Amino acid sequence: MKITIDGHTIEVEQGTTILQAARIVGGDSVPPTMCYYSKLEDCGGKCRCCLVEVTKGSEKDPRPMPKLQPSCVTAVQDGMEVKSATSDRAKISRRAVSEFLLINHPLDCPVCDQAGECDLQDLAYGNENFRSRFTEKKRTFEPEDIGPYIQLHMNRCVLCYRCVKLADQLTPERVHGVIGRGDHAQISTYIKNAIDNDFSGNVIDVCPVGALTDKTFRFKSRVWFTKKFNAHRQCSKCSGDVVLWMFGDDVLRVTARKDQWNEAEEFICNECRFEHKNVEDWVIEGPRKFERHSVKNVNNYTRDLKNVKINADDLILEGREEDRQKISMPNTPFDEKEKEAIKKAKEQ
Ligand code: SF4
Ligand code: FES
Repeated sequence: MKITIDGHTIEVEQGTTILQAARIVGGDSVPPTMCYYSKLEDCGGKCRCCLVEVTKGSEKDPRPMPKLQPSCVTAVQDGMEVKSATSDRAKISRRAVSEFLLINHPLDCPVCDQAGECDLQDLAYGNENFRSRFTEKKRTFEPEDIGPYIQLHMNRCVLCYRCVKLADQLTPERVHGVIGRGDHAQISTYIKNAIDNDFSGNVIDVCPVGALTDKTFRFKSRVWFTKKFNAHRQCSKCSGDVVLWMFGDDVLRVTARKDQWNEAEEFICNECRFEHKNVEDWVIEGPRKFERHSVKNVNNYTRDLKNVKINADDLILEGREEDRQKISMPNTPFDEKEKEAIKKAKEQ
């Protein structure tokens, strides 16, 4: 069936969602996602970050849909027309949604291990939520220990349900879910019961924020200071294909390989993730490429880098020329050689 997104028409299979179609179109037309995760069953429809405007329902019923639709759970109809990046309504609503998510989220990015790879950080910047209007008290929870490997920080949870869906996929019985409603809603008690599973560490990779982080990596480094390598080992539980996050010869953490949507390509087992921190345990394939625009690409020597000119002087002290001169000292020579050059320039 045919769908047109932001003026690009493509053919997709029946049952494709608008989000999946938008990912085929690519570029700015791809809506952001916080709860949808293509590797998890029955996932999405929780966060409303992926709203789009359906301007034509289908060939049979061309009426526009009056409300914005969550693209991750809305199926494509033949002849459908959708506005994503070109819809002001969608952009305003997505911005409101991310402001809403930030209401209860602590702004502790400077001390959060997820900083630099947090979907909420990217979302807030993408939607230009630079200032908070929220002055009320934020929701807080008592800290809870869920074992030696995974750190739960419930205050940062945005209730996307990804970890719940992952636990659902991992365990045969229902030992997980969201308890409580409204601002009492939390995932903690049930998640704890799913933690024994060999693949439970994947909750860290699916969590879009810093609510579930790797205890073995806690406060060791910022992700942009590490070097990332694709590596593998023989493993009887998973494929053994991982990314090593290294500092010098030290393996600081091990994660699954993620695609351009920041989703794990394959889930990895806890043994690979937590118990092999020696570089000799791994066959290193080479530097890891990150398709997604991210601060993780700092230090990444797999990409051609353009020369960047930073107008720091202009940005630091806009409008106050005398302060700018004083602080950045453009006329103060840096060394003897420069002193000589300035003198010569003045003489000419
Ligand atoms: S802990 Fe993370 S993955 Fe789980 S519901 Fe909260 S934000 Fe989502
Ligand atoms: S990603 Fe679609 S509702 Fe969350």
